[in-house]
Amino acid sequence: MPLPAYKVRLTANDAITPSVRRLEFVFESDKPFSYTPGQFVSFLLPGEEKPLKRSYSIGSLTESTRDVAGFEIVIAYVDGGRATEFFFNAEPGLITEIQGPFGLLVMPETLPRRFFLVGTGTGIAPYRTMLPEIEKRLREEDCEIHLLFGIRSPEELFYGDDFLRYAQDNERFHAHFCYSRRLPEPPAPHDSLGYVQQRLSSLNPDPDTDLVYLCGNPKMVDDVFSLLQEKQFPTRQVKREKYVFSKF
Ligand SMILES: Cc1cc2nc3c(=O)[nH]c(=O)nc-3n(C[C@H](O)[C@H](O)[C@H](O)COP(=O)(O)OP(=O)(O)OC[C@H]3O[C@@H](n4cnc5c(N)ncnc54)[C@H](O)[C@@H]3O)c2cc1C
Ligand SMILES: NC(=O)c1ccc[n+]([C@@H]2O[C@H](COP(=O)([O-])OP(=O)(O)OC[C@H]3O[C@@H](n4cnc5c(N)ncnc54)[C@H](OP(=O)(O)O)[C@@H]3O)[C@@H](O)[C@H]2O)c1
Repeated sequence: MPLPAYKVRLTANDAITPSVRRLEFVFESDKPFSYTPGQFVSFLLPGEEKPLKRSYSIGSLTESTRDVAGFEIVIAYVDGGRATEFFFNAEPGLITEIQGPFGLLVMPETLPRRFFLVGTGTGIAPYRTMLPEIEKRLREEDCEIHLLFGIRSPEELFYGDDFLRYAQDNERFHAHFCYSRRLPEPPAPHDSLGYVQQRLSSLNPDPDTDLVYLCGNPKMVDDVFSLLQEKQFPTRQVKREKYVFSKF
């Protein structure tokens, strides 16, 4: 049976860094759409022979994710990319189709002792949708959560204020921004120079008690996974979502 598709209308398309745009959509029909924070949707875009299917994590920050009226995504510029071309030039009012929600990068039923949420570039989006649930769960469960966001330079930071606001309001939620090429001037205590794996190693993740989620650049996901395996992390304590390129 074909998966149900939903018609959505673009309502906003804004540059939030020199290479990332934030797109907002609303549902065109009354068909209810709910998702679990951390999931993604697949867009069916016009293609030459058949539709292009491209996936994007839902990045919305809302208290409820049930029967939502719409959602937002963030998309990074890929040179010569077909969906990139489509979305970077799309005007509000555009109607397109999605399927979903999909994906297993969702909050665990029980929080571990320490929970590391690691993302590079737009791979940080699924963690933003988790913030309200994180806040609620931290009131009930004994856990320390560290979010690690990998970007090149201060101009590439987005959603940073949201993560810092939650970190300020929840003493067991910590945000770390890892700049691979250039630090902000002056750097704050949550800023560091280097890849996410350097910051992660400095926090000494423990294979006996901790859980690590990885999302975004496939090379980062593989490299951090190898690092965790060297630290004897069991595979079940690492969850991965790679932003792999589509074949068509
Ligand atoms: C589960 C999932 C969730 C995803 N969520 C997001 C998201 O939230 N935000 C987001 O921006 N992307 C996300 N992606 C990636 C997204 O689906 C597309 O692959 C991406 O936007 C590129 O599509 P395109 O059609 O523009 O490029 P294509 O036309 O598919 O590719 C054009 C050329 O660029 C190369 N290429 C493609 N992507 C990259 C890249 N990132 N870096 C370097 N070269 C590349 C290809 O090999 C090809 O040569 C996700 C992918 C998956 C699988
Ligand atoms: N070259 C550029 O200046 C530039 C700028 C913007 C966008 N882009 C292109 O835009 C697309 C998406 O870019 P994006 O910024 O959303 O995501 P991205 O390419 O995943 O980069 C995000 C961050 O991840 C780092 N990274 C790369 N490989 C890593 C690894 N193995 N382990 C840990 N961290 C790693 C990058 O550092 P490093 O890049 O410093 O290695 C960068 O700080 C890509 O096609 C990218 O090439 C390129």
